[in-house]
Amino acid sequence: MDIHMIHFAPSILSADFTQLQKEIDDVQRGGADYLHFDVMDGMFVPSISFGMPVLKCVAKKTELFLDVHLMIVEPERYVEEFVKSGADLVTVHLETLKEPEKVIKQIHDLGAKAGLAINPETPAEQIRPYLPMIDMALVMSVHPGFGGQAYIPSSDEKIAQIASWIREDGLPADLEIDGGIKLDNVERAVSLGANVIVAGSAVFRGDAADNTRRFLEKVSHHI
Ligand code: DX5
Ligand code: ZN
Repeated sequence: MDIHMIHFAPSILSADFTQLQKEIDDVQRGGADYLHFDVMDGMFVPSISFGMPVLKCVAKKTELFLDVHLMIVEPERYVEEFVKSGADLVTVHLETLKEPEKVIKQIHDLGAKAGLAINPETPAEQIRPYLPMIDMALVMSVHPGFGGQAYIPSSDEKIAQIASWIREDGLPADLEIDGGIKLDNVERAVSLGANVIVAGSAVFRGDAADNTRRFLEKVSHHI
């Protein structure tokens, strides 16, 4: 099995929270294997979303891999609680960290996988030194804070660059793309080297199971 197999991670930020269980069942039925949790604090990003109580409830009711994206300042203060609440992978933003190695180690010591995210303004070079220590690099292809934004075209280059470093050095790190991914650009992201695909509005607007199936059909020849 290719260590960089494709994972599809619907972002529940765009789900209908009054029927979250149904939304999650739908994406699972459609073939998703990950669930992406966008945690926002109104500080690192302009908006506020949800946190541990929601994650805890979901973790009890699903077998999907829980991919938690912390868009918060001082994430080291909350990492432990997110892992205890059920996170399988915790991604923190490089822009929020004074000592990235320390937080990566903190996440690993808690028994979870560690991801590192970079914003559209952050050059790819800045994440390079950390690639050997992380389980996943996350490239933000919109300005974090809201679902439903348009993909920023310069993200293509960043994905290709980071994918080439991962490949050249034979690293196990996954590469996640997050923001503005739709049925008409998902294949490009995968062909550039992304293997964990986040999609929010494009999944939960309409029939989430059908939409998930369509996404997976688009990338099935890469699986
Ligand atoms: C943005 C979040 C994304 C977002 C993606 O701040 O990190 O995960 O929910 O939503 P879409 O797919 O609608 O761009
Ligand atoms: Zn996200």
